[in-house]
Amino acid sequence: RQPRILVFAGSIRTGSFSASLAALAAKELALMECEPVLLSLADYPMPIYDGDLEASEGVPAAARQLRDQLARADGVFIATPEYNAGLPPLLKNALDWASRVRDGEGDAFKGPVYAIGSSSPGGMGGYRAAMMLRQTLALGLGCLVLGEQVMLAGASSAFDARGDFKDEKARERLRAVMTALIEQAALRAGLRA
Ligand code: FNR
Repeated sequence: RQPRILVFAGSIRTGSFSASLAALAAKELALMECEPVLLSLADYPMPIYDGDLEASEGVPAAARQLRDQLARADGVFIATPEYNAGLPPLLKNALDWASRVRDGEGDAFKGPVYAIGSSSPGGMGGYRAAMMLRQTLALGLGCLVLGEQVMLAGASSAFDARGDFKDEKARERLRAVMTALIEQAALRAGLRA
């Protein structure tokens, strides 16, 4: 079977640059040998994590659904914005809640291989958020994270009216990372077939 690759962004803002990056990643993946699945965290609404809430009401349904999506994926690409040199709460909160699901079916987070993208209107491309996402995934959740990553600087002028990259080099970079992701995801799909 073709590897299933989940793609989502850490922003649900209209006109979000990281959502644009995620959409372009899905577009590149659609040209390759895989099954891309683009989702939006807007469809997985969750309250801010609170241990009392968890104790009284359990993990929100949206967190279980997101975790199910991760469990079914062979590869995951996450495009994150940078907030105050770190991860946006929307993304961190979704990962935190999803990490609290106890389903007895092994660790869903460890099924797929992950690739990281970041974007920022600034010159650093959100690399600190990318590093924090790497820390959370690899050190916090024990995920396998690819060394290859995309960091898009100057994001506010990076896309044309159709949402494509203006700069061919940016597209090449994204394509290279998606190629590396599919390669590893296909290996995992084979192992799990
Ligand atoms: C930002 N932004 C920002 N950018 C950056 O490169 N480094 C940073 O530390 C921060 N800090 C920050 C904090 C907060 C609270 C906000 C709201 C924004 C700017 C950020 O990159 C910009 O708003 C992006 O457009 C957000 O990503 P999306 O929504 O376009 O994907």
